[in-house]
Amino acid sequence: MNDPNGLIQWKGQYHLFYQYNPDAPMHGNIHWGHAVSTDLVHWTHLPIALTPTPGRADADGCWSGCAVDNHGTPILLYTGIRPQVVCLATSSDDLLTWQYYSGNPVIAGPPPVLQEDIQGEFRDPFVWKEGHYWYMLIGTRRVGKGGMILLYRSHDLITWEYRHPLLVADASKLQPTWTGAMWECPNLLTFGDRRLLFFSGQTAEGHLLYPIYVIGAFQDEQFSARTQAILAHGGSFYAPQAFYDAQGRAIMWGWLQEERSQSLCQQAGWAGVMSLPIILSLSPEDRLSLEPASELAILREKHWHDGNFVLSKASQRPYADSQGDCLEILLTCEPGQHCTFGLRLRCSPDGQEQTRIVYQAASQQLSIERDQSSINSDVDHENCSIAVELASGKPLTLHIFLDRSVLEVFVNNRYYLATRIYPQRPDSLELDLFARAGSVKINSLDIWRLESIWNN
Ligand code: FRU
Repeated sequence: MNDPNGLIQWKGQYHLFYQYNPDAPMHGNIHWGHAVSTDLVHWTHLPIALTPTPGRADADGCWSGCAVDNHGTPILLYTGIRPQVVCLATSSDDLLTWQYYSGNPVIAGPPPVLQEDIQGEFRDPFVWKEGHYWYMLIGTRRVGKGGMILLYRSHDLITWEYRHPLLVADASKLQPTWTGAMWECPNLLTFGDRRLLFFSGQTAEGHLLYPIYVIGAFQDEQFSARTQAILAHGGSFYAPQAFYDAQGRAIMWGWLQEERSQSLCQQAGWAGVMSLPIILSLSPEDRLSLEPASELAILREKHWHDGNFVLSKASQRPYADSQGDCLEILLTCEPGQHCTFGLRLRCSPDGQEQTRIVYQAASQQLSIERDQSSINSDVDHENCSIAVELASGKPLTLHIFLDRSVLEVFVNNRYYLATRIYPQRPDSLELDLFARAGSVKINSLDIWRLESIWNN
């Protein structure tokens, strides 16, 4: 699987569609898989929702898109390929089966004026209703110049009028992050009079970079950008999509890519996972906040608590009882000025395999060190680091979810990192805190063993 698609809450149930190859653990022959949940945590697989069908505009693949509620009728808008176009499907049995609209494609390709620039990359419709119109964003590019998002509008979801580019690489002058050559999977969320626009950047060679967000305003069909940053760090999280649930929460999922070789994926028989559900919000100072959905707490099983102690230079504090490979860890601490400390997990008793989450106070860097994460050389071992802005005297909170090969870390609910680790040894389950230099006050450390979501 890859991207989450068509996120919608329908009659109380959360529907999660996703890019899916039923034939092999690799990208190809893309269908829409479908799963449903009442609590964002436990999922039931439903039959495939969209299948590429000969003779139709989606014959070569049903690529990414979205779901909307058109006065009680569920509608999917998605990408047909070769050439890339926008298709529409409807359901009359509560999202279980989908009828391909006979007038497809509803958008047959890029606007003629931009065809030269775009050269065929035109996909991932994202649709929302505002005022008198349905609006649509499409991810695309200007060859040699960078990514671009196009704006369309419609009264009926069928006839679409091209308006203009909503955001163009370079033109926003926001930098400092390189956003690649092509922008995929655009999304636009509304928080009062502010907007959060995000998309995923790809290089000209098709290498997937990261998702990028821009905070700004949308007025008179124009987007004015204020700040830009990377939405998710760590290298695995890509092509997120978000939607509002009935409680008004903006919930986002992303695709967590594999970071192991194709042959290891073949051996495993699967590739790609969905991230945790992440709640997005904006602070009054235009700060994006990312936090794990509170529902995840229902998976908490056995609990250990520690805290109110100082860990200093060259010391280690093991948590032998709470070892495991499915854990939630919540750490709140006050790192001293010259402190470097961290947490080791998926650690073998002799330390041969271990993954470290390390904070270095002097550089305000948080790193996930994977250099010893696996004895298998066929998996990624790169470390990743982010700069964490920590106001002086403010505690650092790491909220960590470990699910076997998946490691997701929320830092002060301000930054989110996701990476993949593939320890080989069955005894790589240990956990400890350590300090390399200076000292850190550990206010609290909570560790929960997590239940499987498939038990109930
Ligand atoms: C992003 C993406 C989308 C496309 C889909 C194809 O990962 O490349 O742009 O619609 O995946 O599976």
